[in-house]
Amino acid sequence: MFLSRTAATALKVNALSAAKLNGIRAITTASPSLTQAFSAQKNANGNYLVTLIPGDGIGPEISRSVKEIFAAAKTPIEWEEVDVTPIIKDGKTAIPEEAITSVRKSTVALKGPLATPIGKGHVSLNLTLRRTFNLYANVRPCRSIAGYKTPYEDVNTVLIRENTEGEYSGIEHEVVDGVVQSIKLITKEASERVARYAFTYAQSVGRDRVTAVHKANIMKLADGLFLDVCRQVSKEFPNIKFDEVLLDRACLHITSDPSLYAETVMVMPNLYGDILSDMCAGLIGGLGLTPSGNIGRDASIFEAVHGTAPDIAGQDKANPTALLLSGIMMLKHMRLNEQAANIEQAVFKTIAEGKALTGDLGGRATNTQYTNAVIESTFNH
Ligand code: IPM
Ligand code: MN
Repeated sequence: MFLSRTAATALKVNALSAAKLNGIRAITTASPSLTQAFSAQKNANGNYLVTLIPGDGIGPEISRSVKEIFAAAKTPIEWEEVDVTPIIKDGKTAIPEEAITSVRKSTVALKGPLATPIGKGHVSLNLTLRRTFNLYANVRPCRSIAGYKTPYEDVNTVLIRENTEGEYSGIEHEVVDGVVQSIKLITKEASERVARYAFTYAQSVGRDRVTAVHKANIMKLADGLFLDVCRQVSKEFPNIKFDEVLLDRACLHITSDPSLYAETVMVMPNLYGDILSDMCAGLIGGLGLTPSGNIGRDASIFEAVHGTAPDIAGQDKANPTALLLSGIMMLKHMRLNEQAANIEQAVFKTIAEGKALTGDLGGRATNTQYTNAVIESTFNH
C-alpha cells in the first residue's frame, strides 16, 4: 500500500518535472556566440538609448545621482525610464510590456534594486528579468577601494556566474507531506555559453587564467557536466590557462589570501556565484560598493545587487556607488571607455578623499553631497 502510493507520487513528480524541464530548456537553448558585443547605433542626436529601471526603495534617488553624474561627464546617453511593477500573465510573474519593448530596443539597461518577497509571493523580478532576456552570464568584479579600509587590501576578483539555471531553475515540489524536492538543472548549452563568455571576458580584460568553481566531488553528474564543458571550451583558448577548484576551498583561499585570485576569472553555476560574489563583496566593504552586469545575446542589464533599503528610502542618505559602478561597467560594455574612466576616477577619488562619504561608509554626507563631490571631481582631474 505504502509502496504503491510512493510509486504513484514519483510518477506524478516525474511528469511534472518533464513539463517544467521543457519550459526551462526552451529558455536555455539560445545559440552561444563568441562575444556579446554591444552593437546599437547612436540616434540622430548622437546619443545611445539606454533603458533605466530606477527600482524600489532607494532606487529612484540613487538612479538620479547616476543620471546627474553621467550628464556632468557628457556621456552620450538618452535614458528611457521604465517601471517594472510586476504583472501576472498566465499565472506567472511578468515584466510590463513597455519595459520589455524598451530593453529590446535599447539592448542595454541600468537597473536599481527591486523588492523580492521571501518564501512566498511573486517570483523575484530580478530573476524574471534575467529569464525574460536570457541574460546568461552574470559578471561580478570586486576590487579593494582606496579610502575604505577593510581587513583586506588586495582584493581584485572577477566572478562569472551562470545566470539562467542550476539551483535557480525554480523546479520545486512536495513529494509527500514533509518531503520536498528542488531540482538543480544543469545543461550543456547553458554551461557552454557561460564558460565561453568567461574565457572571452578573460581575454578582453587581459587576465590569463579561468578557474571553474564546482562541487563535482558531490554533484558528480550536475557539476561534473559543468566542469567537463569548461574543460572542453578551454581548448578553444590556448592562450588562457584553465584550472579547477572546489567551492569550499575557493572560499578558504580567497578569505586567507585574496591575491591568489587576482589574476583569474572564476566561472561557476548559479547559486555558488550568488554566494561567492557576496563573500567577495564583503571583503571590500559590502554590496554598496560592487557592480554587476547581466550579459545576454540580445540585451544586457547592469544592476546594483544590494537591496532596496526601505528604512532609509526618500531621506537622501543612500550611497549610489554600486549603481554608479554598474553604470561604469555598462559604459565599458558600450565601449564608452573615456567617459567610463573619467567617472571611475572621480568616484574613487571622492571615496579616497573621504570628505563626502555616506553613512554606510562611516561618513555624514547626504547622497546629494556625495553626488556633487563626484561631479566636481569629474571636472577636476
Ligand atoms: C543577486 C540577488 C538575487 C539572486 C536575488 C535578489 C533574487 O541576491 O543578484 O545576487 O539571488 O540572484
Ligand atoms: Mn545575491
